Amino acid sequence: MSEEVRKGREGFATGLGVLAATLGSAVGLGNIWKFPSLTGTNGGAAFIFIYIISTLLVGLEVMISEHIIGRTTRKNAIDSLRSLAPRQVWWLIGAAGVLSAFLIMAFYTEVAAWVFAYIPRAISSALNTTDPAVSEKAFADLINSPWQSLIWQWVVLIWVAAIIIAGVSKGIEAMTKRLLPILFGILVIINIRSLTLPGAAEGLSFLFKPNWSAVTWMTVLTAVGLSFFKLSVGMGTMITYGSYFRDDENIPATGVRVMLSDLLVSLLAGMAIFPTVFTYGFAPDAGPSLLFITMPAVFSSLPGGPFVQNLFMVLFFLLAGIAATGAMLSLFEVPVAYLVERLGWSRRKATISTALGLALVGSTAALSNSLMANFKIAGKTMFDLFDFATSNVLLPVGGLFICLFVGWRWGYAALEKNLTNNGTLNNRAVVRAFYFLVKWVTPVLLVVVLLNGLGIIKLG
Ligand code: PFF
Repeated sequence: MSEEVRKGREGFATGLGVLAATLGSAVGLGNIWKFPSLTGTNGGAAFIFIYIISTLLVGLEVMISEHIIGRTTRKNAIDSLRSLAPRQVWWLIGAAGVLSAFLIMAFYTEVAAWVFAYIPRAISSALNTTDPAVSEKAFADLINSPWQSLIWQWVVLIWVAAIIIAGVSKGIEAMTKRLLPILFGILVIINIRSLTLPGAAEGLSFLFKPNWSAVTWMTVLTAVGLSFFKLSVGMGTMITYGSYFRDDENIPATGVRVMLSDLLVSLLAGMAIFPTVFTYGFAPDAGPSLLFITMPAVFSSLPGGPFVQNLFMVLFFLLAGIAATGAMLSLFEVPVAYLVERLGWSRRKATISTALGLALVGSTAALSNSLMANFKIAGKTMFDLFDFATSNVLLPVGGLFICLFVGWRWGYAALEKNLTNNGTLNNRAVVRAFYFLVKWVTPVLLVVVLLNGLGIIKLG
């Protein structure tokens, strides 16, 4: 594709690169840290069922909408909306997106920091214990230490910034193309181990047999929030990545591929975790600590001695580190693209400034278990507040307005032009279905879920 077509901007070079980067953004700690722990605490398969419906009827529509906004305008999250609707307030969606990117990065880099910190610990056998009380102490020592929390977060920021500086194609695309196959390979290896353990059947039935009594409106809001977080939508990440797409990219097909592959990774992560947890008699509903407290104890229970146990432990945290990297790259790119295009900064200057800003905001999340443990807003530490406010409020609200923009402000003709690539794709039925969903179904569902989940109305 010529540079002219892309309006003089760098973009993803190949179709495979588009898929790798977009899937790399979707697949992240959400699959390994959030999905299994939320499934565990919200009743297993019933939650997964609602989550799948949410990704189909809500997350996917927002993803496709964001991709077309980005690709038509070839601009960052804020300027794209500003150029589509000049002198109107729609650009605020992009501005809220940049804010969300910052807030997510603030706590996400800290969870990634724990993952990175665990890799050398797993290699050195420091996590080799079958007693969760001991692994709990190891985790507490890490998160209660202000310096360790901060330094590992800086390591994560430097790692991501270095890839971002290398560029959209040479950095993000090249890296995600290399890392994703490794991620799949590791997942398959761990699955072969977990599914051949005696507790496999119990773990699988927990994952796939629904228990509806655990479902409330808050569960539904959590599932919708997770689908946004999972697919990296509602905050301009996908507008930014869409702006790097090739003109001949089949956007609906890409969206469906990313959604299905991401779901597969989440289920494989669940299938890696729950059978092992049940085999060795640990609790499936440990919440966020499942990853850092339960899993080391679970892996230490595997047969084959310390070498095999440590090997699986290292592979597992490597998997989480790789997954986190692709997601953080997309989060980082949102403010960087804006700073480069709006303020004319070099990529290096924009990246370093963003990293410094993130180190500052992120420190409040990093210190949430130590120096700032008692600093709470609405009963939540900064870490929990950033997590709750983004997943359950900012992303769904951002997604709602993106759908309203595409379904109501843009209209059918523009949508058809974008989804058929100016008539070169023969997918009329897809366009019609998408138009109906994005105009009516997705916004109505989002409004109902948001109002109920936040307790503003009560439907039951
Ligand atoms: N999708 C990522 C995950 O599931 O871990 C998290 C994420 C990345 C959320 C990028 C939002 C975003 F813009």
